[in-house]
Amino acid sequence: MIDDLWYKNGVIYCLSVGTYMDANGDGIGDFRGLLRRLDYLNGLGITTIWLMPFQPSPGRDNGYDISDYYGVDPRYGTLGDFVEFAHGCKQRGMRVIIDLVVNHTSDQHGWFQSARSTKDSPHRDWYVWSDKRPANADKGMVFPGVQKSTWTRDKRAGAWYFHRFYDFQPDLNTSNPHVQAEILKIMGFWIQLGVSGFRMDAVPFVISTKGAKVRKPVEQYDMLRSFREFLQWRQGDAIILAEANVLPETDMNYFGRDGERMQMMFNFQVNQNLFYALASGDSRPLTKSLAATKPRPATAQWGLFLRNHDELDLGRLTKAQRETVFKAFGPDKSMQLYDRGIRRRLAPMLGGDRRRLELAYSLMCTLPGTPVIRYGDELGMGDDLALPERNCARTPMQWSTEPHAGFTESDRPCVPVIDKGAYGYEHVNAAKQRRDPNSLLNWTERIIRMRKEVPEVGWGDFKVITVRDPAMLIIQYDWRNNSVLFIHNLAEPPREVAFSVGLPGEAGKLLVNLLTEDHSRADDRGRHKLLIEGYGYRWYRVGGLDYLLKRSDIDTKTPRLPR
Ligand code: NOJ
Ligand code: CA
Repeated sequence: MIDDLWYKNGVIYCLSVGTYMDANGDGIGDFRGLLRRLDYLNGLGITTIWLMPFQPSPGRDNGYDISDYYGVDPRYGTLGDFVEFAHGCKQRGMRVIIDLVVNHTSDQHGWFQSARSTKDSPHRDWYVWSDKRPANADKGMVFPGVQKSTWTRDKRAGAWYFHRFYDFQPDLNTSNPHVQAEILKIMGFWIQLGVSGFRMDAVPFVISTKGAKVRKPVEQYDMLRSFREFLQWRQGDAIILAEANVLPETDMNYFGRDGERMQMMFNFQVNQNLFYALASGDSRPLTKSLAATKPRPATAQWGLFLRNHDELDLGRLTKAQRETVFKAFGPDKSMQLYDRGIRRRLAPMLGGDRRRLELAYSLMCTLPGTPVIRYGDELGMGDDLALPERNCARTPMQWSTEPHAGFTESDRPCVPVIDKGAYGYEHVNAAKQRRDPNSLLNWTERIIRMRKEVPEVGWGDFKVITVRDPAMLIIQYDWRNNSVLFIHNLAEPPREVAFSVGLPGEAGKLLVNLLTEDHSRADDRGRHKLLIEGYGYRWYRVGGLDYLLKRSDIDTKTPRLPR
């Protein structure tokens, strides 16, 4: 059954075990704590948990510097605790995906320790070496301003090694067949322990040619197919969600023309243009980015996100657009990072304005793709700009008004909890919001429920209905004779908007509001005329036929997939 493609419609929630819930009172979140919070996540409507790296690591890049791929960092628990957690998810019908960080290891990894110790080491060729300082050593840094180079001399090795990221993250030589085999083995290991797939870190760099003589790195896309094939041999419904901030013209190389590569990719193009739209009130570049990222295989899916654990990367906008977003959401230098982005969390960026938060989440849930929520964003958590780099948006989850937000009983949480100002845990916490029917938490729960009732978003073909006002974004999805339509007003003033739904006969005349009683009937000319309040949004089912009723008689047909 085609509905088996679970990732086409779902709600993904990402979290770090270390900052979610501490069960044993040592100040560090752990798997046992997370296990206790599964009912919270299930209640929110989350279908898939994405765990950021939790394997043993010196923790110099929030776990993205792994020193053992086959274990659990003892700070978070044991492999046994992981399995209990995986089972707890399974019991509740939730899936788990985990980070797969194989572009590089930690410099403390046994492979690197062995590789640097002697030229004869069996692991020497697992990394990328050069006897001399390569000419391009000061090029291609991912963290400009913090990272000085991409090649560092290692005294023990008597050679230079390549690192796309920080110097403690030596790049694996991913062209080496032994390394490739090890990557498959890592996937196989975690699949066996119950995960449904991977968020693959830094994919363009994983598949890139690497070396001192490489002037222009070339992506070896075939590698993606071999990852995918292996994974699906082991477990048919397992997926890879690729982190690849690439240009739309290369998207199909990542998905594969016939959908034989990555099932999912984060839509960075839409993400950046979405923030521009929120900052400027102009939806036109966003519409363009939707068109540019439209081509994808029927089985592929976009991961649609607002903020994640990294900076909001605005590198693909024009300079003027970037400045507009900086001015609106991160005017202070201390809020910006790596000359290209903003490191704040969503709520403070939007001034804590509930209308704008709902607008942003509503867009995340209705643009083409599967929404990926960052933990704490369901509460409107804030950031701590006193913490360095991206850490400002990685503070512990705020559960209650108990000390340290109920995150830990220790007086020394591993990362300070936000305890001051409007976003302090006394004001922003799950316990309080759970009891308040009008809270952001309960609103998020309702919007997730409704998102699940519009599978057209994940499956359907979409079109943007153009209207003259650039602040209005109207998007319609058609799938299996059902249509849904979403309207967003990106501007603060209320707007009047008129449009018709391009469907034959009576079909487009009635728009049934999915969130309120405020339905719309077209005039004699078939036009809908609406007044949308500032930052307002509308979710409609077109024609108003009961989806559930209708669905039962069309389910037997051979599904037609969008092309
Ligand atoms: C991308 C991750 O999202 C980021 O947090 C990390 O620092 C780099 N990859 C290196 O692994
Ligand atoms: Ca703990």
